[in-house]
Amino acid sequence: MSGVAPALLRPATWRDIPGMLAVERAAFPDEPWDEAGLWAELASRPRRAYVVAAREGQQGHEGIEGYAGLDVAGDVADVMTLAVHPGSRGGGLGSSLLGRLHDLARGAGATSVLLEVRSGNEVARRLYAAHGYGLVRTRERYYRSGEDALVLRKELHP
Ligand SMILES: CC(C)(COP(=O)(O)OP(=O)(O)OC[C@H]1O[C@@H](n2cnc3c(N)ncnc32)[C@H](O)[C@@H]1OP(=O)(O)O)[C@@H](O)C(=O)NCCC(=O)NCCS
Repeated sequence: MSGVAPALLRPATWRDIPGMLAVERAAFPDEPWDEAGLWAELASRPRRAYVVAAREGQQGHEGIEGYAGLDVAGDVADVMTLAVHPGSRGGGLGSSLLGRLHDLARGAGATSVLLEVRSGNEVARRLYAAHGYGLVRTRERYYRSGEDALVLRKELHP
């Protein structure tokens, strides 16, 4: 046996908040969610579902390498956030986290998933396209920076 154990996906708990905050600040340095915001998200279960990619026993960012959150309301689910620590990118974690959100959405009875992405976020846009998301509409100059937001949707098949 050699190598490093892969990060495993599991539901987020309040104990994960320090690690999630470290990922959040590295992934969204301009406008990170703060600790109170993350507590509020985790407190909003069952409507909100948060998943972490965790490497147990690892100290760096408390072992949390990425996380993702979903809001489910009836037929439609929304991806609230998706982030992977810069040191853990390019290995499929983002794709796995997104796939887990789709499973959770299906399990909760949703038939489609919506999300918003910055028009300039090429990496995330490629990831979403690979998962079958299509453009619904553009919200012009939606972000403080003046960047457009793209609203994307994926139909979920049972
Ligand atoms: C978007 C993000 C979550 C992807 O995480 P990740 O773990 O690197 O993603 P994956 O390794 O699963 O890669 C998925 C796809 O993204 C693209 N991608 C990943 N890293 C890339 C890179 N460095 N350059 C170009 N494309 C890249 C590829 O298309 C890849 O597909 P592939 O497996 O066919 O090559 C991560 O880059 C991130 O946290 N970014 C900052 C936060 C953010 O923008 N979140 C989305 C907000 S809407």
